[in-house]
Amino acid sequence: MSPKQCPTADYKLMPSLEQVERALRLRRSIRRFKETGPEKKVVERLIGLAGYAPSGHNLQSIRWQVFANRAELDRLVGMVCDWIGKMLEENPDSPQAPLFRKIVKAWSEEMDLVLHRAPVLVLTHSRIRTGTEATDAAIALAYLDFASLSFGLGCCWAGLFKMGVESWEPLRQFLNLPHGHQLHGAMMVGYPKYEFKRVPLRNYPEVKWR
Ligand SMILES: Cc1cc2nc3c(=O)[nH]c(=O)nc-3n(C[C@H](O)[C@H](O)[C@H](O)COP(=O)(O)O)c2cc1C
Repeated sequence: MSPKQCPTADYKLMPSLEQVERALRLRRSIRRFKETGPEKKVVERLIGLAGYAPSGHNLQSIRWQVFANRAELDRLVGMVCDWIGKMLEENPDSPQAPLFRKIVKAWSEEMDLVLHRAPVLVLTHSRIRTGTEATDAAIALAYLDFASLSFGLGCCWAGLFKMGVESWEPLRQFLNLPHGHQLHGAMMVGYPKYEFKRVPLRNYPEVKWR
């Protein structure tokens, strides 16, 4: 690309440390969403912002799939619950069994503990070429999560859904990712129904200086 195509880097526009810290601490997992989700153009903008994430060799190979249709989202949850039901049959005493039973029972009562009735689910996927793709995708989703705050949106990582995709063929077939592509991550997105009143404390991580 030619320098003329690229906007000037204006470091004066950087948010202050206080702003960054406040925003980082305000980011929380959202599990209660308003029914109406973000418009398509907002999700597209978010995905565009996530595209500023670094990627191995700058390959920018992460691709996205967006579910924004209630019937399809419910179908995904139903399939995750089918997978969980099968696991419970095969391994009723596993350490996760109590949680899994709760999830399946909730779904039978139309309560969604898998995708929390998020109005939008974004998925990242790609072919594996260099081995950095899963990391690239995680960074991109973390950017999207953080950027969503500026739209009044909130996110929640859909780790359980990802496990379902990895283990349950019908779900993989339903996603219909391009041949050779692997799902890297999934994120629920929507407008939070409630506001948190406090920010929780975090443990300072263990660090070894050498
Ligand atoms: C890789 C990953 C997978 C996750 N999967 C789920 C999930 O399937 N369902 C869920 O409700 N939360 C999920 N979470 C959210 C975590 O529970 C949450 O980030 C953690 O409890 C800290 O809370 P906070 O995000 O509100 O700060 C996941 C988080 C990560 C990073």
